[in-house]
Amino acid sequence: MLNHECIKNALHWRYAAKQFDSEQKIAEEKIYQLMEMANLTATSMGLQPFRVLWIKNPRNLKDLGNATFYQKQISTCSDLIVLAARTDLDEDFVKEMIQLMEEERGLQKGDLQDYEQTCIKFLKGLKNSNELQHWVDKQIYIVLGTLLTACALMQIDSCPMEGFKKHDLDEILNLEKKNLRSVLLLPVGIRTEKDFLLHEKKVRIPLDEMLIELN
Ligand SMILES: Cc1cc2nc3c(=O)[nH]c(=O)nc-3n(C[C@H](O)[C@H](O)[C@H](O)COP(=O)(O)O)c2cc1C
Repeated sequence: MLNHECIKNALHWRYAAKQFDSEQKIAEEKIYQLMEMANLTATSMGLQPFRVLWIKNPRNLKDLGNATFYQKQISTCSDLIVLAARTDLDEDFVKEMIQLMEEERGLQKGDLQDYEQTCIKFLKGLKNSNELQHWVDKQIYIVLGTLLTACALMQIDSCPMEGFKKHDLDEILNLEKKNLRSVLLLPVGIRTEKDFLLHEKKVRIPLDEMLIELN
């Protein structure tokens, strides 16, 4: 187990990089390990309504600059992770997930039938009240949190990003055809002294102001 000091140091070490060393590439194996962490993220009802795209050579993507407002962390990153929401969250989606749960846990087919109905009802309710997209986005922000912490612990630099033209990126990556839509970006790379933010102090409100302790 990692101790508290180790986790705290890693979270202090990480920062939202505005520029990476474009000459350096992160080992594929390390990014793959990061993807394993994304896969281990908790999601509401265990439904994992997302996909993670790993773009190994983002500089090959035409029009990516325009879709991301020419931000340097995109043009200099080693790899680009795109967190995308599934747009096909229908009954079949739930049935597939429940089947996987039954198989993985050595249950009989149908053992999770009640749970399946609960999930179907839950998603239908969200869809009817136009909250489905919001719910999926929330799940994806949890993935981002997992990845940010994992990056910190693995000494991979990153920048969480919601500032990009989602529709444009979806077109570039042909996401609609894959029943996906982009939600968040996580360019990763290796820090550079050229980044004006590298040595800036981390700004956080004091813990005793943030924390409200109740008995
Ligand atoms: C959900 C989310 C979206 C963000 N979007 C952007 C972005 O589009 N562009 C950017 O440069 N930074 C973005 N940031 C980075 C924040 O500005 C940064 O995390 C914050 O200022 C705290 O600094 P630190 O991460 O270096 O501690 C985003 C952060 C989060 C958590």
